[in-house]
Amino acid sequence: MTIIKKLLVLLCFAPALALAAGGSWPLESAPLKPTDVTSLQSGASAFVNYCLNCHGVAHVRYTALKGIGLTDMQIRDNLLFTQPKVTNMMTVAMRPEDAKQWFGVPPPDLSVITRVRGADWLYGYLRAFYRDSNTMTGWNNAVFPNVAMPHALWELQGERAAIFAMEKDGHGGEHRVLKTLEPAKGGALTPLQYDQLAGDLVNFLVWASEPGAVERKRVGYYVLMVLGALVLLTYLLKAAFWKDVH
Ligand code: HEC
Repeated sequence: MTIIKKLLVLLCFAPALALAAGGSWPLESAPLKPTDVTSLQSGASAFVNYCLNCHGVAHVRYTALKGIGLTDMQIRDNLLFTQPKVTNMMTVAMRPEDAKQWFGVPPPDLSVITRVRGADWLYGYLRAFYRDSNTMTGWNNAVFPNVAMPHALWELQGERAAIFAMEKDGHGGEHRVLKTLEPAKGGALTPLQYDQLAGDLVNFLVWASEPGAVERKRVGYYVLMVLGALVLLTYLLKAAFWKDVH
């Protein structure tokens, strides 16, 4: 097969491959509230406390958090752990080489993670950790199987155990399929509160991927309205100019 043909075949199967990489765990839609500052602030606080030791959102400055209703003082007193100044970027203190050594894979920057994976994927991922004694971290994930990340929010969610079933595939073979996750040990939050926190985190990370999005949309409506008015005026002008031409 020529290279061109191989590429064409690959292109045809690319959507199927992407789907396979996404796994088969059902995803619920993330409860996004882009203008809810309480949810965004709760997400920011959870991010700084539970994720920022490993992941940065390197293109967001701490001062940008004023965009979700926080003051410089609140940012400095409650959220500024990894950097000396509020004008600095929200990066991790850990060196990438150390991270690679500890986890095998360096934790990626999460600035645009919701653009890459989608908000629903992230919401599912944060709610799909379970105990697995066969992995290095003691955790596994239904949405991202064999992920190298430990369950950073386990004290809040508690522990869950995976229930597997044996299923036959089309070729007569049998393989283990993950069916459900069952609560094994309670956490500090109720399941409902935990889902809400996961939603707040996703909300915050969607905001972080484009802190100016709400403003951009607001300005966008005005621009469209002005353009619409101009179109109307131009039409009326045209009608007036051509009135006497037959
Ligand atoms: C102890 C370090 C650590 C903490 C804390 C941590 N992570 Fe991770 N995270 C990792 C590592 C390591 C990976 C890479 C996993 C892999 O590729 O197998 C990862 C991967 C991810 C991914 C998948 C990225 C991709 O490849 O698409 C997401 C999303 C993520 N983390 C979100 C979070 C969030 C949200 C928090 C806070 C609640 C958090 N992480 C806390 C270490 C950490």
